[in-house]
Amino acid sequence: MKKFRRIGVLTSGGDAPGMNAAIRAVTRAAIAHGVEVMGIYRGYSGLISGDIKPLGLRDVSNIINKGGTMLYSDRCPEFKTEEGMAKAIETCRKFNIDGIVAIGGDGTFRGATDLTARGIPCVGLPGTIDNDITSTDNTIGFDTAMNTVIDLVDKLRDTCESHARCSVVEVMGRGAGDIALYTSIASGASAVVIPEIEANDDEICSKIEAARKLGKRNFIVIVSEGVGSEYGPALTEKIEKVTGVESRFSRFAHIVRGGSPTLKDRMMATKMGAFAVDMLLEGRSNIVICEKKSETVAVDINYALVIDRMYKGKLKEGDLEPFSVEDIDMMKREIEEKKTSIRETYDLSREINL
Ligand code: ADP
Ligand code: F6P
Repeated sequence: MKKFRRIGVLTSGGDAPGMNAAIRAVTRAAIAHGVEVMGIYRGYSGLISGDIKPLGLRDVSNIINKGGTMLYSDRCPEFKTEEGMAKAIETCRKFNIDGIVAIGGDGTFRGATDLTARGIPCVGLPGTIDNDITSTDNTIGFDTAMNTVIDLVDKLRDTCESHARCSVVEVMGRGAGDIALYTSIASGASAVVIPEIEANDDEICSKIEAARKLGKRNFIVIVSEGVGSEYGPALTEKIEKVTGVESRFSRFAHIVRGGSPTLKDRMMATKMGAFAVDMLLEGRSNIVICEKKSETVAVDINYALVIDRMYKGKLKEGDLEPFSVEDIDMMKREIEEKKTSIRETYDLSREINL
């Protein structure tokens, strides 16, 4: 089995609260196993340029509570080219990096799988607020982003109550409605609009009109960015016109990506970080660490990437070829479970929130 003397850790793609907790766990777990750690700065850009420094036990002190990422992040198109990849491999050799823990989303995992194929074993950790990685129930940063949303919505509700207004709020999530869906329940929003389920604007207006007649003064509607940037502003105008309730539009955008991580994100990032190191040192690579039914587990990266494309309707020709019938059945089952969970949560939001 390969002997690991030194591993690298990087954060790539959109940052997420909890990435620092993951960097800390990877560093401390590796050092506990007698393995040195190199911090690779600015994601794959730093791997290409050699922006790399050793991380000791004290270098990761006082970061578990901080949002963002101490290693910084980047989107690096050069890494997708053969020349970029060759430079990255060269850097690994130069710095004696035997393996890498890459924290990010599906783009980051594609990079990790390319590196593994070229002799640098990689393990991925799911770090994104969007919760859009199908193979894991939760991603690092998702819980914090949702808590930030409900905190901000609670503030909006105060002013809505004073003025008898409706606030339509757009939250991030890329193509996934998870942040919008769960926060709609936790903040008592009158309605939620997500890309996974077709919305009925007339129904939203009728609901607001009926509640206003019964004396309700504050209204919150949460819209996921995945339905398009025009949707929220247009719905705001429509609500005001149809119901007569004065309405305002707010876009939370990147504010939801910062801030101190919640207990859940700190715990999950720590467990996943330590588990990633265990896996790497045991000789496992090309895997993503996932949380499934509250357990920390390893999932093959290719499985994770393909189930993701299947869920998002983006399967490419030949994608399923490497997988057994059982694997494909399992992918379909997992996707059905996710869709059912989204549908049930949506129905709960509709039923309970007036
Ligand atoms: P995320 O990891 O959050 O999905 P991106 O999609 O921006 O974010 O990907 C992060 C980085 O991963 C990219 O900037 C690029 O360097 C690398 N990457 C993305 N896609 C690929 C790919 N197909 N092959 C190799 N590297 C990739
Ligand atoms: O993936 C995280 C995310 O914040 C998405 O929610 C959003 O669509 C995107 O990144 C924004 O990207 P950028 O930081 O490049 O504006």
